[in-house]
Amino acid sequence: MVCADLDEEAAAATTHRITDAGGTATAVMVDIADPASGATLVAHTTTHHGRLDVLHNNAGIGVAGAVHELSEHDWDRCLDVNLRGTFLVSRAALPVMLEQRSGAIVHTCSNHATVGSPRLAAYHASKGGIRALTRQMARDYAPDIRVNCVSPGLVDTPIARRGRGSTPEEAAAAWRLREESNRYFGRAAQPREIAFGVLFLASDEAAFLTGHDLVMSGGQGEVAF
Ligand SMILES: NC(=O)c1ccc[n+]([C@@H]2O[C@H](COP(=O)([O-])OP(=O)(O)OC[C@H]3O[C@@H](n4cnc5c(N)ncnc54)[C@H](O)[C@@H]3O)[C@@H](O)[C@H]2O)c1
Repeated sequence: MVCADLDEEAAAATTHRITDAGGTATAVMVDIADPASGATLVAHTTTHHGRLDVLHNNAGIGVAGAVHELSEHDWDRCLDVNLRGTFLVSRAALPVMLEQRSGAIVHTCSNHATVGSPRLAAYHASKGGIRALTRQMARDYAPDIRVNCVSPGLVDTPIARRGRGSTPEEAAAAWRLREESNRYFGRAAQPREIAFGVLFLASDEAAFLTGHDLVMSGGQGEVAF
């Protein structure tokens, strides 16, 4: 396993959790919006691990704003990381997978690709692009390389809790409201629950699955009231 992140400490911390549990992992610092990073990541992977079997494009950012509120800079920043980053890293990994004639790519999309939510225009557009790209790539690289995506709803991670409310009490109340808006479970998903979906799509058990969007929103977006 290679843990690649802009946040070097976070990548190292995840690596340690894997090695402590008996796995093999290395960390590498990358900015996926930088075209050079794809090559760095692939070189690191093949040098340290000899193969590249699975690519999980998971890094993402949210940029707040309705269309009339967004600067071009903010729009570009969100699309550059979420959509262009997915393209750049996939482009770097694909020659190795094509040479091996095997591989699985999983993009992290979002239920925001298909439903609306307030003041998050660039994020929605980026995730809609990832969903379309998943279907398109599946067509180009079948049967040797499978390309799927997972679409979580609300997940309890820093990106989801960030920037809500001006005091800790306001932020906690806003979070509770968002959790309660899930009519099936009344809570956010834990990252581990989403990871199992990614694991399945990446595994040989999903051998006949490509171009699929595995929606893991706990039913969110599926009910009218
Ligand atoms: N948390 C949710 O509710 C939710 C819901 C649906 C989809 N998602 C998606 O799940 C994925 C993971 O998000 P998360 O919830 O764990 O958020 P997070 O903020 O905890 O993690 C995102 C990670 O991406 C890294 N990152 C950001 N920009 C980067 C860059 N340019 N290059 C390399 N790494 C970069 C960050 O350092 C961070 O470690 C994202 O694609 C997000 O859009 C999250």
